[in-house]
Amino acid sequence: MSRSAVLSAPASYDAGDFHFHGSAATSEHLLALEGMPRIEIERMIEAGVRHRERARRRQFTDTLRGRSVCLAFFEDSTRTRTSFELAARRVGAEVVTLFPQGSSMSKGETLLDTMQTVVAMQVDVAVVRHRSAGAAAYLARHLDAGVVNAGDGAHEHPTQGLLDLLTLHDVWRGRFEGRRLAIVGDLAHSRVARSAIHGLRAFGVSVIAAGPPSLAPRDFATLGCTLAESVEEAMVGADAVMPLRVQFERMDRSLAPSPRQYARDWGVTRERVALMKHGAVVMHPGPFNRDVEIASDVVDGARSVIARQVENGAAIRCAVLERCVAARDARLDPLLDSEPVERLHAFDTPALVRYGGLAS
Ligand code: MLT
Repeated sequence: MSRSAVLSAPASYDAGDFHFHGSAATSEHLLALEGMPRIEIERMIEAGVRHRERARRRQFTDTLRGRSVCLAFFEDSTRTRTSFELAARRVGAEVVTLFPQGSSMSKGETLLDTMQTVVAMQVDVAVVRHRSAGAAAYLARHLDAGVVNAGDGAHEHPTQGLLDLLTLHDVWRGRFEGRRLAIVGDLAHSRVARSAIHGLRAFGVSVIAAGPPSLAPRDFATLGCTLAESVEEAMVGADAVMPLRVQFERMDRSLAPSPRQYARDWGVTRERVALMKHGAVVMHPGPFNRDVEIASDVVDGARSVIARQVENGAAIRCAVLERCVAARDARLDPLLDSEPVERLHAFDTPALVRYGGLAS
């Protein structure tokens, strides 16, 4: 079992080893950023930039026309689900959403049986969010469809990691080396932090993490980051900060400090933001709790790139869905050319291929 799997406390799902399916370049699944080569991530970032520019012009594509995407969200979500839905529609796919409360799972059907039923209706890609680490990998092994992990327990949230990378790419204008990101909060239960660390490591960014002792296990550092003792130590001199929500739904509430104490000891406030480098930015994966892990004036302040993260989320998910379908087509029919992707590239003007800066 991989390191991150060992660290993901609530791995109650018997899904076996986490495994990155196939070579990243040809995978029809997106399960994790752990082990993904930089070049693969860069391709998705490039494609994400193109999709963002199209969305701004309200010019969408039909690269996935005739394809179907199922959004199977067994945990709550606003940003991730709506942005996957918009993304799928923006590349021309049909979308069906499965909610657990209204599905046969409430009558005792297993996750796999329910998902196999949906996929039998000729679904090409299943986007899955589930409270159990390993759920997406398990489905990827058994379903005849591409599987995208939209968050599995405390394991990974790879499309969040990709949108964070795209956002930092914008802010840093593609220059990642020598940069430092501070991650502050509930490290123990955060799939966002895990995906961010794996993605950023591939780009040579150092990550310094800090959180309340009950939510910051010492072995978290084995993922490839440094642990700081305080929020100030993590943020001083950083190029960006990412506060994390306390994931009450994944823990015994007694592990967490009260909101007031949390805000005082670990909250990302204006004073703490001032400790970072000039021009450093504030991110948040959402949903955020104003005046708990992040001060309200920081959410709305000049350093905040939270809205850009949301915009980038829809764009990167277009790229992810296209990648899964292209890889699946190539596997099912190796003689098929990559025509949809070629067509996509032909659509671009050189200016759009450049990574946009914050001013773009
Ligand atoms: C997640 O689904 O992990 C979110 O994006 C972050 C959170 O819930 O706090």
